[in-house]
Amino acid sequence: MNDIKTILVIGASGKTGSAVYKRLLKQLPEEKLKAASRSSSTLFNWNDSSTWKSALEGVSHVYLTYYPDLAIEASAAHITAFCNLASSKNVKHITLLSGRGEPAAQTCEEILINSGLSWNIVRASWFNQNFSDGFFKGFIDAGVIALPVQDVKEAFIDIEDIADVVVETLLNSNRRNQLFEVTGPELLSFDDIADQFSEILGRDISFSTVSKADFNNMMLAEGVPADVLSLLNFLFTEVLDGRNEYVTGDVNDVLGRPAKAFKQYIAQNKARF
Ligand SMILES: NC(=O)c1ccc[n+]([C@@H]2O[C@H](COP(=O)([O-])OP(=O)(O)OC[C@H]3O[C@@H](n4cnc5c(N)ncnc54)[C@H](OP(=O)(O)O)[C@@H]3O)[C@@H](O)[C@H]2O)c1
Repeated sequence: MNDIKTILVIGASGKTGSAVYKRLLKQLPEEKLKAASRSSSTLFNWNDSSTWKSALEGVSHVYLTYYPDLAIEASAAHITAFCNLASSKNVKHITLLSGRGEPAAQTCEEILINSGLSWNIVRASWFNQNFSDGFFKGFIDAGVIALPVQDVKEAFIDIEDIADVVVETLLNSNRRNQLFEVTGPELLSFDDIADQFSEILGRDISFSTVSKADFNNMMLAEGVPADVLSLLNFLFTEVLDGRNEYVTGDVNDVLGRPAKAFKQYIAQNKARF
């Protein structure tokens, strides 16, 4: 912890970024933290590299979340340029949030690992909070989770668990240069998810497989921009093909406690659904 001058949290208004920032604020004085995004106190925009330089001023450690997803084509060039700039500004360490089963994300991991910087990768399964703070929320409100997938399973993880692991990588130098693949404790299909919501919320939530065309029309009607829609298509029709149907013990290994169960997440956030 002694080598920390200032930690830059990129995506500090987002799901994991805000949870990480909140935790760091309990352990470090505010002047050692920089909250960055397009709308945070430190201006940072992935699409405007002129904002990166001032954001990195005086920074020793970075929590890097990329937006919209490391899976997009631009990510490798952005991560390469960012790591080069960080090295030239004497940044010591970057913890990168990554995703599972996405070749472009794994390329970005390699870029950081080979950057010469001290690094950690926190490679996460899909977030529970997609259902309360993200794209899936509308499905729960409507009572039907309608997706172009069949009975594939995912090991949904809580962002509170991800944030605890990320903070450990930033503050504990014994964790350096390791990749943690973090998942929730169980594999769940969208049918299982719908059943758990129905049981805990006390109203009917179902899962329905829709065609890719119907899914695209629904998303377009909801105003989802074309680039986000192509990312969603990639995630649902390629990444969700069973390649990620396994759980890991990394949350337990790092934190010494099990990852939060999906049922517990629903119960804790009941008022929001
Ligand atoms: N969601 C999942 O299930 C999941 C699973 C594994 C990995 N991930 C990874 O997590 C990362 C974040 O994804 P998320 O969907 O959960 O989003 P999020 O972190 O909840 O929100 C996005 C954050 O990025 C900021 N942002 C948006 N556009 C930006 C830009 N052009 N430049 C700089 N900052 C920008 C937003 O703040 P402003 O609007 O203020 O800029 C916000 O702080 C992605 O790299 C994704 O691959 C997500």
